[in-house]
Parts: sequence; structure tokens; C-alpha cells
Amino acid sequence: MKKQVDFTIGLCFLLQSVLLVDIIALIYKMLVINLKNIINEICSLVKECGKVVLNADRAKMAIDIKSGVTDLVTEYDKKIQGQLQLGLKKILPEAKFIGEEGSNDELTDDGYAFVVDPIDGTTNFIKDYHHSAISVALLKGKDVVAGIVYNPYLDELFSAIKGEGAFCNGNKTSVSSQPMSKALVLFGTSPYDKDLFPKTIEVLSEYFNQALDIRRSGSAALDLCTVACGRAELYFELQVSPWDFAAGKLIVEESGGVVTTLDGAPLSFDGKTTILAKNNVI
Ligand code: IPD
Ligand code: CA
Ligand code: CA
Repeated sequence: MKKQVDFTIGLCFLLQSVLLVDIIALIYKMLVINLKNIINEICSLVKECGKVVLNADRAKMAIDIKSGVTDLVTEYDKKIQGQLQLGLKKILPEAKFIGEEGSNDELTDDGYAFVVDPIDGTTNFIKDYHHSAISVALLKGKDVVAGIVYNPYLDELFSAIKGEGAFCNGNKTSVSSQPMSKALVLFGTSPYDKDLFPKTIEVLSEYFNQALDIRRSGSAALDLCTVACGRAELYFELQVSPWDFAAGKLIVEESGGVVTTLDGAPLSFDGKTTILAKNNVI
């Protein structure tokens, strides 16, 4: 009799734990599916913003100076930021909003926040250089859980969900496995603080001596995506802001790469920072 009772209790425990595992799996799946829906909606939104970049009347556009004569903002940066702020509010109303072009919420330790660069590569945009992107990251606390970078000129959309891999136009992206001797090294000039240039050149010279060649593109977000999909091996810059790297960082990491400060420390979203992104061989 006792054996039968023990057996029944054991069976109940087993069923309960199976049920619990199922419920946890279901909740997890729902969260992931929600994030996928959110990502899809954000992708449509950034593609709409991409049309604003492509159709801009650049000859007549208003250009203002921000922190200095090299730090510019156009009416289209502001227009796209407005469009993103409105659209993202509809997609995830509880999320805070931090964008390059002002009127920002505070980033807190919990809850969702969008970190947005309406046009990364504004100088390229002004010059019609055809290498700029719209960058949207979704943070939970200080952790990026989703990132989207869209280059409207090539119609290339990079996206990543934390733990789910990264993609370019639906194809999985992976960092390259080339060593430094075969590396293409990308760098940013930190153009809004020219005092940093001598140090940039110092670091760059070291890499240049070891690598295949160097490139400067004018968009930090696209530099990160270029490393993510293995077209280059390393990217560094001495001063970037959270909106420059938030989405691209996750895209590199989900492609198997590593993103830190120049000293190898974790990146902070609290202000300006140095950045080093690379494949996992270098
Ligand atoms: C800039 C670009 C540039 C990088 C700067 C960024 P913006 O962003 O990403 O490549 O060198 O550090 O600030 O001002 O064009 O959005
Ligand atoms: Ca930027
Ligand atoms: Ca910008």
C-alpha cells in the first residue's frame, strides 16, 4: 500500500514539474514571439524612414551646427527622429526613447528603452556619399535585446534579437575567421573631437602595420554591421555615443564577434565611449 502511495506522489511531482517546464517554455516562447513581432514592425518603420533619406531634397535642406562646425544636423535627421519616436511609441508604448537629436528620456536600470540614431552618417548624407543608416536598438535595462540597422542606399537591413542570431536581409550573418594579417581594419575619426585625432592615428598605425588595409566609411553603425557580416575584421573609434553603436553592437555579438571599449572593458550606455569590435580570431 505504502509503495503505491509513494508511487502516486512521485507521479504527481513528475507531472507537476513537467507542467511547470511546459508553462515556462510557453511563456519564454511568447516573449520571443513578441520580440519577433516587434522587430518586424520596427523593420517596416525603418524602411519607411529609409524612403525619407532617398527622397530628400538635399539641395534645399536646412543644415544646423550642433557641438561644433563639423557636427551637423539636417532637417531630415530631425524629421526621421520624429517619425521613429512616433512609430516606436505605437509599437511599444511603455518603452523610453533616447535619440541623437534631443528630447530624451533617462536610461534606467530596468524597463524597455529605444536608443535611436535617425541618420548615422549625417556628413555622408549631406555630401550624397550614399553610405548612411538608420539605427534602432531596443534595450531592457542596460542590455540590448534587439537591434536594427538599415542602409537604404543598398536596401540592406541588418537585424538581431539577443540569443537568436543576426541577419542581413534574412540571411544569417557571421563574423569572418581571418587573422590580423588578412584583416581589413575600419576606423572612425571621432570627428566631433579633433583633439583625439593624433591618438587615432597612433592606434591606426599599429593596426595598419599588421593588417591587409584600412578603411574609413563615415558610419559607425554600418562599420559594425560590416564586421558582423565578415566584410571586415575589426572596427575601432575613440569616441562614439550609445546611439552610434547600440544596435550594431548586438548585431556583431549575435554574429559571433566581440565588442568592447578599446581597453577590452564592457561598453557603457551612460555616455561617450571608445569602441573596439572584432571577429573572434583577432
Ligand atoms: C557619426 C558617424 C561617424 C563616426 C562618428 C559618429 P553621425 O555619427 O557614425 O562614422 O565617426 O563618431 O558620431 O553624427 O553621422 O550620426
Ligand atoms: Ca551616429
Ligand atoms: Ca546621427
